Amino acid sequence: MENNSTHSNELKQVETSLPSSWYCDPSHHLLEEKQIWQKDWVYVCHGNALAKPRQYQTLTIGNQPIVVVRDDEGVLRGYYNTCRHRGSALCLTKTGRLDANALVCPYHQWSYRLKDGGLAATTSFTEPQGFNKQDYPLFPIAVREWRGAIFVNLDPKADWDEESLFQRPADGLSRFPLEEMKVGKTWSTIINCNWKLFWENFNECLHCPNIHPELSALVPLYSRRIMDKMDRPDWENHKDSNDPLYRGGLRAGAETWSKDGQAQGHVISSLSHEELDRGQLYATAWPSMFIGGYADHARIVRVMPKGATQTEITAEWLFEEETLNDPAYDMANVVDFATLVMEQDGDACEMNQLGLNAAPFKEGVLMPEEYLLKRFHDWVRDKLHSA
Ligand code: FES
Ligand SMILES: [Fe+2]
Repeated sequence: MENNSTHSNELKQVETSLPSSWYCDPSHHLLEEKQIWQKDWVYVCHGNALAKPRQYQTLTIGNQPIVVVRDDEGVLRGYYNTCRHRGSALCLTKTGRLDANALVCPYHQWSYRLKDGGLAATTSFTEPQGFNKQDYPLFPIAVREWRGAIFVNLDPKADWDEESLFQRPADGLSRFPLEEMKVGKTWSTIINCNWKLFWENFNECLHCPNIHPELSALVPLYSRRIMDKMDRPDWENHKDSNDPLYRGGLRAGAETWSKDGQAQGHVISSLSHEELDRGQLYATAWPSMFIGGYADHARIVRVMPKGATQTEITAEWLFEEETLNDPAYDMANVVDFATLVMEQDGDACEMNQLGLNAAPFKEGVLMPEEYLLKRFHDWVRDKLHSA
């Protein structure tokens, strides 16, 4: 008989974590901004947040200000959020809707066409000799929409490649009507940790029983400190078990990730029985986002570094339109549950960051269940070495 452990997910040998200085050192962080954040596709928001013409969303990737706006023809446009006159930011709020079909600088009011970023007008009485408006368009950036999710890329040479965009493939979400879903709630917080700690924490469940008692009760497998039934060497002993403790999925009687486990009659009808049995489906697009799919909603979480030791987390909850239109549907049931879990994770990431400052601590070590951290670390190392 074959050794079961050859078929399990775990790490088989000692792997070191990333150097602790990579989580604290501002100069190393600048390298990651350059090699990762300014080269990869970065999630902005769901298209429904920019559903109407002239709606915009601003974002700072590293220290690079950008704005994404829907023009009057309905096309999404991305520009650096900077005026060609003397460099003022153009849009000052996170989200908003322009009054006119133009981006007008709030400083001296140069105005730019939405559709091509061209400078339409200055406010000077005359223009100097040799000044041509066509020499001063907004700086464009690449924008792509994938199933309702808007991404930008600061690298002008970047290719769009769905295969490499998602490390945990997105095909598991193919039956979720992501592009038609509506943003019911947006929530944002700042965590005092390096952005990589967010992803490390996201990629393991060793912490689940003590950090997430409520979630571990909803997803019994998590109480065994694993994320997948194949994460233990003896998993085949239970491979035919229908107990959620071994097969995964939600506790008996629960339908979705919510406070009481109930989907309130709004299970997404396109989902298969098998998908509903799984309890949760994920797609991850490092470095900036993951999508979680649940029986009655989806949640997109955006990760954005604010320097070496701060990270902004933004969650959008997506629902089918008829769910949002049902006055009896209590959105807080799912929103409050996930917010609790995200706050618990945020606290865990902050305590991780605090300890990393200890001078003798040079790097950590991974345990077998942390195989996805190894994958993430290799991804980071690879990006930094491909200078
Ligand atoms: S900086 Fe924008 S108009 Fe002067
Ligand atoms: Fe967690």
